[in-house]
Amino acid sequence: MPSIQLEINTGKLSGEGVITAQKKLSQLENVFEDEATRASMDQEQLIYEVQAFMPVEEGKEGGLYFGNSTIFPGKVNEEYFMTRGHFHAKLDTAEYYWCIQGKGALILMDENGKTWLEEMTPGSVHYIPGKIAHRVANTGEEKLVFNACWPSEAGHDYGTIEKEGFGARLKDIEGTPTLVATKNEMV
Ligand code: F6R
Ligand code: MN
Repeated sequence: MPSIQLEINTGKLSGEGVITAQKKLSQLENVFEDEATRASMDQEQLIYEVQAFMPVEEGKEGGLYFGNSTIFPGKVNEEYFMTRGHFHAKLDTAEYYWCIQGKGALILMDENGKTWLEEMTPGSVHYIPGKIAHRVANTGEEKLVFNACWPSEAGHDYGTIEKEGFGARLKDIEGTPTLVATKNEMV
């Protein structure tokens, strides 16, 4: 038997070595545009959860990691619940995402701040090239589940996004998910 199992219908991973990390609203300070609203909401609310199978040491070249992310539905004011987003620390490393369940958007940004999105629906496969920051938002009413595969040498650079943000934010504008450009960058 292989060491881990993927439940095909739900994207859930199980087996020895699968780790789970949760992000509650309290851990997402300054991630959403409307920080005052985020701070006024239930801080215990679970926003997303990531399972990962990392069979080799992080940073080691040549290995592959497997992940399963779940983003719960909801918004902070007009902005959909989403992941923090990152560049890879080893910038020129790519990643695959594929959607298992729910409805959402993969928000991508190049190094010049140009920001665009790919819609996520069950079965959609997303190749994220190197040097592209990536974040996922849940635009639906049920949970959004996607799997990922990325190189063990990639690492994560969260600092650049914490400082600069993406070039646009995904908001519910009169019921339609709409990318709204932020002040300093272009969509
Ligand atoms: C790994 C990757 C995903 C994300 C996960 C949570 O490189 O892109 O597994 O790590 O969806 O998002 P972040 O890491 O941005 O909080
Ligand atoms: Mn990544």
